[in-house]
Amino acid sequence: MERTLIILKPDAVQRGICGEIISRFEKKGLQVIGVKLMKIPQALAETHYSPHKERPFYAGLVKFMTSSPVVVLALAGKDSIAIARKMMGATFGSKAEPGTIRGDFGVSNSYNLIHGSDSVEAAAKELRLFFNAEELLEWTPAIQAWVYDFGKGTAE
Ligand code: RTP
Ligand code: MG
Repeated sequence: MERTLIILKPDAVQRGICGEIISRFEKKGLQVIGVKLMKIPQALAETHYSPHKERPFYAGLVKFMTSSPVVVLALAGKDSIAIARKMMGATFGSKAEPGTIRGDFGVSNSYNLIHGSDSVEAAAKELRLFFNAEELLEWTPAIQAWVYDFGKGTAE
């Protein structure tokens, strides 16, 4: 199963909507294999968002991400990276479609509630940054056989 890193940003935690957001992923069928509440250290925020180092919003973004606790999730599922990104919606809350997390819960551009890895390479890097190997649990949900069709041997 593909793994992805999700961060419920400081605004999601402060606004008390982490449960609702996690619930959407659970109901969709994505599996929580790691979760923690943490205050992101400055250096970790800088590394995580280093691809945006030259962008005008970088300093403000790092300040926002370190300003208050976040909930970090590792999710597993077939195509979990693309599915989570679709569920998150467009970057800016003002533009995100209704039905998406950003579209339903936010209006701000910078305070957009959630981060999700955008590629297999980014997911691997970000999962390593935020979790030790032993914090990611291999477990089989009891409902697995009803979430996917395993009729041909693989998850469909
Ligand atoms: P993320 O990395 O957090 O999952 O979000 P994303 O892929 O949808 O958007 P990205 O382009 O990677 O931007 C990273 C985060 O920077 C903030 N941002 N602010 N004010 C602005 O113009 C601006 N542009 C980006 C957002 O918090 C965005 O999620
Ligand atoms: Mg991004």
